[in-house]
Amino acid sequence: MKVHSSMSRLALSPTRPLSPAVHSTSTLLYMRQTRYLNGKLDTPHAKRQHTTSTHIGQKSSWTHPIYSKDQILAVRTAHREADTWQDKVALGTVRVLRWGMDFVSGYRPRTVGRNGKSTTYIMTEEKWITRFIFLESVAGVPGMVAGMLRHLKSIRRMRRDNGWIETLLEEAYNERMHLLTFLKLAEPGPSMRFMVLGAQWVFFSGFSLAYLVSPQICHRFVGYLEEEAVITYSKAIRDLENGHLPAWSSLQAPAMAVKYWQMPEGQRCMRSLLLYVRADEAKHRDVNHALGNLNQDTDRNPFAARVGAQVESVARSAGLRQLHGEGNRKEN
Ligand SMILES: [Fe+2]
Ligand SMILES: [Fe+2]
Repeated sequence: MKVHSSMSRLALSPTRPLSPAVHSTSTLLYMRQTRYLNGKLDTPHAKRQHTTSTHIGQKSSWTHPIYSKDQILAVRTAHREADTWQDKVALGTVRVLRWGMDFVSGYRPRTVGRNGKSTTYIMTEEKWITRFIFLESVAGVPGMVAGMLRHLKSIRRMRRDNGWIETLLEEAYNERMHLLTFLKLAEPGPSMRFMVLGAQWVFFSGFSLAYLVSPQICHRFVGYLEEEAVITYSKAIRDLENGHLPAWSSLQAPAMAVKYWQMPEGQRCMRSLLLYVRADEAKHRDVNHALGNLNQDTDRNPFAARVGAQVESVARSAGLRQLHGEGNRKEN
């Protein structure tokens, strides 16, 4: 078993890219078995096809809103000031987690010595996709936990939920689609799968307990987490635009991404894909900050509106038009 001498190597080892963004011997070997060509995955692995592609031809319960080019380009990083002690707890927790993740994955740019020379540590396509897959595997947890706990609470108390559940489950679905899309570009190895398993166990347990104690802090926590997600994707987009990720410069988005985001012709490259994902994260940021501003027991979800006999998600139908970084403040 090969042992990596540096913690930063952890980011390199767990995931094998499927795209041409490949430089290592092991990955080249893998590409003989699985190739990603012109936006279509050519793979002999029936099992893999089954796990990520089965629903492409089916109608989704949550059709993604159509984002315009102007909307996805207009997304910006934003930060909501921590006003209360609850906000500070949420922000502090996110910062600790971010620091830990950066430390373990070697994400933070830094200078390392190599053969007596100093070289700048940079993110490659392989490191970015590894980071995306790990982060998205974690990001899919909060919406599902919150939706599940509110669902159970609604049943337990025998009263309605004020329209929160669908928005939360839709967010979890959206995060899982991010993960499934990136899995079209890379095949996680055993160590990555183990990391995801461990992280899910810890995060699911911790977030579930925290949500039972204070759902308000949890939504604020997710709001701050999504602020970081927007920052991360913005940095990846900037790396791509600056020519630091050459293997992604001509790579097309996977077919399932084109279908899910309804990406128009001429807007189906890797950069566009990252812009779409970043826009989703910005929406999660605003939605969770907005939910964190509300009374968790009595306030209605502002992203759900009753239209006739149906509850329709305003966040879904309005796309990105309501983004402003901090979530809607509650009006008294
Ligand atoms: Fe995501
Ligand atoms: Fe997100």
